[in-house]
Amino acid sequence: MEPSASGPTISAIAMLEKRCFSDPWSENVIASALGSGNYIFSYIYAAEDDLETREMLRAEGNVPGMIGYACGLISLDQCEVQRICVLKEFRKRGFGERLMNELLTAFNAVGASSVFLEVRAGNVPARMLYEKLGFREIGTRKAYYADDDAAVYELETGNGLRATIN
Ligand SMILES: CC(C)(COP(=O)(O)OP(=O)(O)OC[C@H]1O[C@@H](n2cnc3c(N)ncnc32)[C@H](O)[C@@H]1OP(=O)(O)O)[C@@H](O)C(=O)NCCC(=O)NCCS
Repeated sequence: MEPSASGPTISAIAMLEKRCFSDPWSENVIASALGSGNYIFSYIYAAEDDLETREMLRAEGNVPGMIGYACGLISLDQCEVQRICVLKEFRKRGFGERLMNELLTAFNAVGASSVFLEVRAGNVPARMLYEKLGFREIGTRKAYYADDDAAVYELETGNGLRATIN
């Protein structure tokens, strides 16, 4: 977790967004979420001694060496996972799960009774991750994205939130 919205953090997130999403958040959107008390962020960084990765990231404006991040919105006792991504070359190593667990821990700390998220119906890796953590599919939003439906997921406190994070 990082409490303040610093320039390097904004640039690093923007770099991950561009690499991981077809509809990346702009630096303005990122800055405004970081500056708002309603959003929670979690981050994963490349190892300090992984100089090759750190140099590659720095060359793309990612000075802190961030390789993944997640962002959630707190809305009273109902929270929402807004973004989660891990750079392609670092996937399938448990980082996405770690980011999600950090968000869920933070949601739990603010007293969330349920957590929602939307995901492209065709995004199998993300859906498998959410289902592994106990999220339950509760509906579909037809043609929510230009090229896909959205699957809507919920995780209820009594449905594993505490069990997942303890
Ligand atoms: C979704 C994403 C964050 C997963 O990150 P990751 O670091 O690769 O995930 P993990 O290694 O922690 O995997 C955790 C679980 O997720 C599931 N999973 C992850 N990648 C998967 C894949 N390619 N196929 C099937 N299941 C997968 C598995 O259940 C896995 O558990 P396991 O290792 O015990 O099988 C990553 O694929 C990503 O950044 N995708 C692009 C951005 C995106 O689509 N974000 C979600 C929409 S907002």
